[in-house]
Amino acid sequence: MNVMANIAILASGSGSNAQRISEYFTGHPSVRVKLILSNNPGAYVLTRAHSLGIPSEVFNRDSFYNSDDILRILKQYDISFIVLAGFLWLIPSSILEAYPGRIVNIHPALLPKYGGKGMYGQKVHEAVIKAGELESGISIHYVNAHYDEGDIIFQARCPVLPGDNAERLAGRIHELEYEHYPRVIEEVVGGW
Ligand code: GRF
Repeated sequence: MNVMANIAILASGSGSNAQRISEYFTGHPSVRVKLILSNNPGAYVLTRAHSLGIPSEVFNRDSFYNSDDILRILKQYDISFIVLAGFLWLIPSSILEAYPGRIVNIHPALLPKYGGKGMYGQKVHEAVIKAGELESGISIHYVNAHYDEGDIIFQARCPVLPGDNAERLAGRIHELEYEHYPRVIEEVVGGW
């Protein structure tokens, strides 16, 4: 018998990955996106969640770090796996301990370079271009208590082209993310 794996996605911003992942698993026999969570009440991901018909919840810093609210919500929705997709806060130890090996993140560069605190969004791409790198890419990794330091599950590469600015490089990286993140999640979720 197939047991349904229920995913919660945490996102702080636009949520194009969240949408892509949700669509990928629509109608899937054993995996579904059941909940979208955001720390940002103005995040476009909440609009996407509404359009997709996926329940969403917003939380603030205090409830995230100083209460069991999130764990309670995750339990309420029977969540077994957590996907970070453009989520900017460190995950508290209570959630890490409740979901060992069951939280993944995507970073828009080839870790271990261009990761860590403050390395998010356009800043990553600006740093890659400024350093004169000839390639960049994506890193999908397990999440631990430090920014971008968990074990890497999968990487894919793309060129940095002459004349690239952060926006153009971000577009190329997003295509890689859409292509690989849902599939890698599917593999990891199926792997335990
Ligand atoms: C992605 O590039 C992801 O790698 C990074 O944040 C961005 C989120 O984009 N962690 P979106 O909100 O999914 O459009």
